[in-house]
Amino acid sequence: MGFAVTDRWSIKNTPSMNAEQFQLWQALLEERTGMTLAPERKPFLETSLNIRMRELGLEDYDTYYQQLVVGATEARAMEWSILVDRLTVQETSFFRHPGSFALVEDYVSQFARERAAGTSLNVWSVGCSTGEEAYSLAMLIHERFAESDKQLFYGITGTDISLPTLSKARRGLFGRRRVEQVDPLLREAYFQPTDAHTLQVNAVLRERVCFAHLNVLNLDQAPMDDMDLIFCQNMLIYFRRWRKRQIVTRLADRLAPGGLLVLGPGEVTDWHHPELERVSFPDTLAFRRRV
Ligand SMILES: C[S@@+](CC[C@H](N)C(=O)[O-])C[C@H]1O[C@@H](n2cnc3c(N)ncnc32)[C@H](O)[C@@H]1O
Repeated sequence: MGFAVTDRWSIKNTPSMNAEQFQLWQALLEERTGMTLAPERKPFLETSLNIRMRELGLEDYDTYYQQLVVGATEARAMEWSILVDRLTVQETSFFRHPGSFALVEDYVSQFARERAAGTSLNVWSVGCSTGEEAYSLAMLIHERFAESDKQLFYGITGTDISLPTLSKARRGLFGRRRVEQVDPLLREAYFQPTDAHTLQVNAVLRERVCFAHLNVLNLDQAPMDDMDLIFCQNMLIYFRRWRKRQIVTRLADRLAPGGLLVLGPGEVTDWHHPELERVSFPDTLAFRRRV
């Protein structure tokens, strides 16, 4: 038995998982989400499962595992979606990786210069978490398009496996401290306070951004096509090498000619696609589809 802090008020015994049980849970998580759970994250898994098991009145890992793999399909799916939210890492922030946003800024300016009036820029934020990434892209594009003398349109879709994060993203409500990371001019232009601690992204951006549930292991079910910009960061890091490459190839297939795929630096290595070329831009990992 190990000890773990299971909630703010009490310290409870967390039963330790044996090696066989850990392997089963690792395999289930990887099969359904792509995420690999390193051995050092076993205490995290034990604590997260125990919190949920207590909520359900269950006492052992095996019974809970059985609930997730056999039984009524709808109940299983609902329970799985709750658990996935607890086990995935949702850390994010506005304009999280400055180099990548600088590249997107260049790309959007070029798009605004070269494309005809009335054209729409289609953007996809893959593994969008609570929406900061999608709204950052919206602010950047909105600013660049406002400077253009042509009327240009844009639409951003954020997708994620976690339903609770998607509903947070849709509300567009963020704590004051989170929003402090945003440049003051953008903050002033695109956020409004809803109370002393919270700000909301303005409707002008929210109208351009939508959020949808999508597991990247099921990319074949995604209706996105002809995307001008696909932004995918800090999700593939939890996946095995072969899976990262497979997903990146599937994302590349959804790019429009001239479209840009932005990953996190170092997130895939030794990956090539016959129709894409690597973009040379400081501190970024990005590829562009040949026209
Ligand atoms: C660390 S966050 C990254 C958020 C944002 N892209 C950023 O860089 O700040 C990773 C996100 O990937 C999502 N995720 C993990 N596995 C996924 C999967 N199989 N399909 C879709 N989203 C997944 C998680 O729910 C989480 O919101």
